[in-house]
Amino acid sequence: MTSNKRILILAGDGIGPEVMAQVERVMEWLAARRAFSFEVSGGLVGGACYEAHGTPLTDETLADALAADAVLFGAVGGPQWDDVARHARPEMGILRLRKEMDLYANLRPALVFDPLVAASTLKEDVVRGLDLMIVRELTGGIYFGEPRGVDTLADGTRRGFDTEVYSAFEIERVCRVAFELARRRGNRVHSVEKANVMESGKFWRDEVTALHAADYADVELQHMYADNCAMQLVRQPRQFDVIVTGNLFGDLLSDCAAMLTGSLGMLPSASLGASDAGGRRKALYEPVHGSAPDIAGQGLANPLAAILSFTMMLRYSFDAADDADLIEGAVQDALAQGLRTADIMQDGMTGASTEAMGDAVLGALDRRAG
Ligand code: IPM
Ligand code: MG
Repeated sequence: MTSNKRILILAGDGIGPEVMAQVERVMEWLAARRAFSFEVSGGLVGGACYEAHGTPLTDETLADALAADAVLFGAVGGPQWDDVARHARPEMGILRLRKEMDLYANLRPALVFDPLVAASTLKEDVVRGLDLMIVRELTGGIYFGEPRGVDTLADGTRRGFDTEVYSAFEIERVCRVAFELARRRGNRVHSVEKANVMESGKFWRDEVTALHAADYADVELQHMYADNCAMQLVRQPRQFDVIVTGNLFGDLLSDCAAMLTGSLGMLPSASLGASDAGGRRKALYEPVHGSAPDIAGQGLANPLAAILSFTMMLRYSFDAADDADLIEGAVQDALAQGLRTADIMQDGMTGASTEAMGDAVLGALDRRAG
C-alpha cells in the first residue's frame, strides 16, 4: 500500500465533526503503523456550508468529491435550518452529492454485535447474530423523479406531487450489486417493491426476475412487498441476507433494520457508483445516524459508526480487507472492555465519551498490532 489515497472528509453538522475527529485518529494510526498513506482534505457541507456560502454544497466541494478516491461524510441538518427554502436545506447537500457522483448503490448493513444484543428493543433470541445487508437504490425513484411540485388546477384545487419512476438500467445495476454481494454472503436476495399496486413496482419485479434468470440463477431470489418486508423485519429478521429495494422503501426499511440492532450509533454505510475503466468507483461512506443536534458538542456521540464507515471504505474502495478486519476487531475489543457511549449504555457498563471511545479503539489497535 504505497500509493496515496485521496480522502475528502465532509464532517457536516451536529455530531458530524466530533465523530469524524475520532476517525481521523484511526486514519493517523493506520498511516503510522501500516504504511498506508492518505492525503486527507476537508470541506463544508450541509448547514455549516449554508452558513458560510448560502448553499449546502459548493461547486468547488463537489469537484473535490468527484476527484477524491473516497469521501467520508458525517451528518447534516439541524433545527436551526428548518425554515430554509428546500433547495438550500442541509439535506440537499447529501442528495446532490449522491446524484452528481452517481452513487446508485447504498449498502446499509444491520449487524447485531454480540455484546450489544440486549440493546435491541426486540427479544434477544430474535436478533442475536443478525447480519443483513440492505442495498438501497440511491439516485432514482421518487427522490428525483419528475414531474414534482405543487400546483393549482383550473378549478382552483391545489395539489402536491412527486413521481416514482425507474428505468430498466437503474434497476439492473443496483440489483447486480445485490446479487454480487449475496454471492459473498448467504447467497440469498429479497427484492422488495409494491408490485401489487404500483406500475413501477411490477416493472421492477419483472426486471429483477429477468436479470436473475440471465446471470444470477445460482443466487436464491425472493420477491416481497414492502409492507410485508417491514413486518418481517421485526418479526423474524434473520430470514434476510441481502434486501434490494428502491430509494424510498430503502430509506424506510433501513431505519427499521438499523433499530433492530438497538444501536443506530453503530451502523456504517457505503454509497457506491459504477467502476470506471481503471476499476475505480466513486464512493461515499457515512454513518447511518443523523446529526443528533440534541447531543452535539457535548462529547456524548458514539464514534463507532463513523469508524466502521471508514472500515467499509478500506474494504470497498481500497481493497484493504485486512486493515478493515483489524479495526473492526478493535471496535469489538472496546465494547468487550465494557465501554459504552450513552446511546448504547447498559447496566454494569462503563460510560465513555466520544473521545474515550476513540482512545479505547486506538488502545485495542495497539494491542492487536502487537
Ligand atoms: C438517509 C436520510 C436522507 C434520505 C436524508 C437526510 C435526505 O434519511 O440517508 O437515510 O432521506 O435519504
Ligand atoms: Mg433515512
